[in-house]
Amino acid sequence: MQFSTRITAPGRARAGCALVPVLSGGKLTDGGKALDQASGGRLSRALRSGDLAPKAGSTLLVPLDGAVARALLVALGEEREASAKSFQEAVRGGLRAAGQLAADDAVSLLHEAPVAQRELDWKLRAQVTIGRELAYRFEALKTKREAHPVRPKRVVLAVASAQARAAAAAVAQAGAIADGVDLAKNLGNLPANRCTPAYLADTARKMARELGLGVEVLDERKMRALKMGALLAVARGAEEPPKLIVLRYRGAGGRGAPIALVGKGITFDTGGISLKPAAEMDEMKFDMCGAAAVLGTMRAIAQLKLKLDVVAVVPATENMPSGRATRPGDVVASMSGQTVEILNTDAEGRLILCDALTYVQRFEPSVVVDVATLTGACVIALGHHHSGLFSEHDDLAAELLAAGQEAGDTCWRMPLDDDYQEALKSPFADMANVGGRPAGSVTAACFLSRFAKGYDWAHLDIAGTAWKSGANKGATGRPVPLLTRFLIARAQG
Ligand code: BES
Ligand code: MN
Ligand code: ZN
Repeated sequence: MQFSTRITAPGRARAGCALVPVLSGGKLTDGGKALDQASGGRLSRALRSGDLAPKAGSTLLVPLDGAVARALLVALGEEREASAKSFQEAVRGGLRAAGQLAADDAVSLLHEAPVAQRELDWKLRAQVTIGRELAYRFEALKTKREAHPVRPKRVVLAVASAQARAAAAAVAQAGAIADGVDLAKNLGNLPANRCTPAYLADTARKMARELGLGVEVLDERKMRALKMGALLAVARGAEEPPKLIVLRYRGAGGRGAPIALVGKGITFDTGGISLKPAAEMDEMKFDMCGAAAVLGTMRAIAQLKLKLDVVAVVPATENMPSGRATRPGDVVASMSGQTVEILNTDAEGRLILCDALTYVQRFEPSVVVDVATLTGACVIALGHHHSGLFSEHDDLAAELLAAGQEAGDTCWRMPLDDDYQEALKSPFADMANVGGRPAGSVTAACFLSRFAKGYDWAHLDIAGTAWKSGANKGATGRPVPLLTRFLIARAQG
């Protein structure tokens, strides 16, 4: 589904279908009225019939015979001013209904509807985001494609000439974010026999070629030379060779301190010797969604040509049991020099991330944000609505919270005070890699905090938000929208 803006008088638009908002009390907007007039009052007659249910997202098809072949009346609900949520429902309902028609293209006037506390650019972005979400398919591994094509193929968002520039920018921004989300979804949905650490590295290399980014992939030998004992301890049990992927975007010319994004890239998490139960273990192919989000964000910001420098670091490996695998109780030395007693080999994410957090210091970043499907405990705490946000830096936390709100990809701040650090005490090493059941997502963040020194740091636990289970199983692409909005705001400085 492709979106564009066009300066159009709605009465004179040309399209297979027009999406026309209907406000509470059955009122039309200016564009709707113009179309009504051009069609000899067919829209108002249809409204008087009472066939359009008032619930946000309900639709009524009205055949026309002008330059616009049909109108889809789309209800915005009964509130005097639509809420952001009912607007989103209207967009979803309208685009879904348009998809059932034989029309390849649509013109939308939905953004003419007033929405509480939201401006035009938000309404335009919402349409692109929802349309791209509806259009997403993951059929790369099916030999028979679904019969019905994605419709409408093209959606024109009609705007007035005074708004044209800002509108085009908003649509381009949402389109770039959707491209990043699609990449993150595709990587997440690919199973572990396809999406290996090497595949992630190849994806980064391909992106580097296409988008003009810098790329470097460290192999096991280099990891050993750098003394990444924690990352290597996780990789030990796997046959697939581990990779540490570094992708650089230099939108500010490579001067000054970059922002670093670090993404957990466990391409499959069996738990290792601390083996997970069989039920739903397939979902541990999604344990690289942090890595996928970081790559997706790099794609989005490169496409948007943001004026800032960003470095992405992705430690990637499987977590497998084998005769060579790390055992519970093994003590390893991390790249930072700190030693870790690995009490549970299923707490592997923090082990690969801690060496990546030490490694990023060489880029002298101003800010580091890591993204990880880190703990089941975070899902228990927050469910599937918000990602967990952990940071000792209030300004950075506020920026990430605001970016999430703006993007509709929210996070919720969790505690990270020193009181929780005690849980990681080990009689045999500087620390243990697990802290027991209480506050499991907090003690995991506490573990990471010991390696995130020398820069402002935040950690996003996306265990509950990166994918959906059940009938609609699949990666969500979160938190690409949050991260991209965060970087856009930083670039605007
Ligand atoms: N990748 C998992 C976290 C996870 C589990 C995310 C289920 C989403 C759903 C992580 O590596 C893990 O296994 N964490 C353990 C930590 C525990 C051993 C301290 C967990 O959450 O059970
Ligand atoms: Mn695990
Ligand atoms: Zn994991």
